[in-house]
Amino acid sequence: MSIRETQAWKALEDQLESGMRDIHLKTLFQEKASRFEDFSLHAAGIQLDLSKQRWTPEVRDNLLALAREAGVPEGIQRLLNGERVNRTEDRPALHTALRLPRDAKLEVEGVDVVDAVHTTLDKMETLVDKLLEGQWRGATGKPITDVVNLGVGGSDLGPLMVTSALPDFEANSAHEIATHFASTMDGSQLADFLGWLNPETTLFILSSKSFGTIDTLSNASTALDWLAKRLGGDENLIKRFHFVGVSTKPDKMTEWGIDPANQLLFWDWVGGRYSLWSAIGLPIAIRVGMDNFRRLLAGAHAMDEHFRTAPLEENLPVQLALIGIWNVNFLDIRSHAVLPYDGRLKHLPGYFQQLEMESNGKSVTNDEAVVDYSTCPVIWGEIGPNGQHAFYQLLHQGTQPVACDFLAPVNRYNNVEDEHFRGDLMAQHRLALANCFAQSRVLMLGDDAVKSDTTPPGYKRYRGNQPSSTMLFDSLNPATLGALIALYEHKVFVQGVIWDIDSFDQWGVELGKQIATETEEIIATQQGLDSLDDSSRGLIESIWRGQRDA
Ligand code: F6P
Repeated sequence: MSIRETQAWKALEDQLESGMRDIHLKTLFQEKASRFEDFSLHAAGIQLDLSKQRWTPEVRDNLLALAREAGVPEGIQRLLNGERVNRTEDRPALHTALRLPRDAKLEVEGVDVVDAVHTTLDKMETLVDKLLEGQWRGATGKPITDVVNLGVGGSDLGPLMVTSALPDFEANSAHEIATHFASTMDGSQLADFLGWLNPETTLFILSSKSFGTIDTLSNASTALDWLAKRLGGDENLIKRFHFVGVSTKPDKMTEWGIDPANQLLFWDWVGGRYSLWSAIGLPIAIRVGMDNFRRLLAGAHAMDEHFRTAPLEENLPVQLALIGIWNVNFLDIRSHAVLPYDGRLKHLPGYFQQLEMESNGKSVTNDEAVVDYSTCPVIWGEIGPNGQHAFYQLLHQGTQPVACDFLAPVNRYNNVEDEHFRGDLMAQHRLALANCFAQSRVLMLGDDAVKSDTTPPGYKRYRGNQPSSTMLFDSLNPATLGALIALYEHKVFVQGVIWDIDSFDQWGVELGKQIATETEEIIATQQGLDSLDDSSRGLIESIWRGQRDA
């Protein structure tokens, strides 16, 4: 049965037709003085304000009924207990097991996963400590100073986002290690690093769940050539001193030449976009130290526990998911902007793009029926204050409805030692918060945000009524960041349950990979062009012509 046929869905449609479709947010605020209190939730260091969403307590009640009819409470238990929620790949999605404390118990299909998780964390710690103590030496005996993560998608975005978000939590070590990230298959990021890094003191992490991703393997091969050319000597020695592998495929790592001692393993039941909590998080641990990495895990675990135990009415991930369902499926808002008011979260929109769009960008249900409702909206975003000087024009006066997530820390710069500098920076933080609140207010109220007796010309008018959520965290630290990421992970899962789709596979990316392999063969061999369409043929011929004439 389609979710559209449930009683709750029909009740929501009725609410839409009997006023909710057209009601303006300013009216909702005029009608009820206590919206902030009614729609604010708090858990694991995160406050979530959903009062600027175009809903009422009655709409929320029906959304909660929809969640129950869709089996969300049972789904949460299935996910956390390690049942095979990834149906097309017939396996659990157990990223939550990666952040269980050492003394927890979770047996999945007869195997104690907590033990395996902590054994890997301990191996990771040994490796991290060796690097941070300056004990990991390159082939010529010099201590490693730079680590380059070679990975893409989930093997890049999570570690990149978290390391950028936590510059104030750098590992407290005598020996400094810088971390860098190269993901692009065209080699542009890597070529830049190889222009100035010292091969004697550079270590590469090959991060790939499948250890078969061409983007990462081609970067790895370029990196190996660079080292071999500059350091000379035995290639196997270079691999031993300058490469670490993180993957679920030990055989493939060994075949590539990664020393088993330098291999960190994780498991098939960790999805790529859910993997920063596993050894894929190695660059994070190198940057912030293992204690802070464990705090990140603990913060996510606190959100997991909240998700598991809080009633749906008070459950942050569930509520965030439900407002998303209301916006997409009833208010028909299919664009969703992520707007952090903290420059350290510059990679968060990109990270959420993969998390949400690769998880829920689906159109076939678990029973292989084509959905007759919308699923994941288009997720995009940017540092909020920078966006204000770019695309906020469209948010305020364009024709597209866009739901926005505003994110900001309550406290920042309190620990800056220099008193004067601290004052300046705290004032900048206040400015950022003021802008965050001002923007969500204007998006909500439009012209009514200012009192005026005159009506401005049309081009100066603001219609308002753009819904938004605001997330405040006490401060941006490993624990709150862990909780924030887990909050979105679980939101995605709840939406997947309601939309009846598999949030943990990503078949939509496979065909492009296959066609690219065939296309590369045609470009390289100049054979088989006739099998292509007219446009692709024309483009390839332009490449041949252009490269011949260059
Ligand atoms: O092509 C998509 C994808 O499989 C993502 O799901 C994944 O995060 C990324 O590629 C990288 O995959 P891997 O870690 O196996 O190299």
